[in-house]
Amino acid sequence: MDEETEKLWRAALGVVDHAYAPYSQFKVATALCSVSGRIFTGVNVENAAYPVGSCAETSAIGAMIAAGEREIRSIYILGDGPGLTTPCGACRQRLHEFSTPRTLVHVGGREGSRACFSMNDLLPHAFVFERDVQEQSSSST
Ligand code: THU
Repeated sequence: MDEETEKLWRAALGVVDHAYAPYSQFKVATALCSVSGRIFTGVNVENAAYPVGSCAETSAIGAMIAAGEREIRSIYILGDGPGLTTPCGACRQRLHEFSTPRTLVHVGGREGSRACFSMNDLLPHAFVFERDVQEQSSSST
């Protein structure tokens, strides 16, 4: 693992046991590095009303946005299971919002990184809100 990925892995390891997953028993932690080099972490937070629970990626993105940052340079998703925990479909769209074609998405477990993807690998043809883009560009001319 390169230095940045190792930092993210350690940060995710540091919080994974705080995940609140009494229903699935499947703890997930995420650590992301913004373009400015700051690290933000998140864990999954489940709920008795199952759909109300949130993914680890969601809380890490929320922490980054609350700190005034908008761009993810790399992210590590640590799933506490035997298989590879790749982000769920909804989280792929959430991550896409704050990613660039250079953003690296590492996935792995407590033992370290096992695979790395680009956002385009994970979500080709992602939804973008074109009307917004057009309004912004026409109002700036
Ligand atoms: N989970 C995440 O936190 N991130 C993902 O990308 C995949 C799934 C959580 C949601 C739920 O609390 C548990 O894993 C089992 O689905």
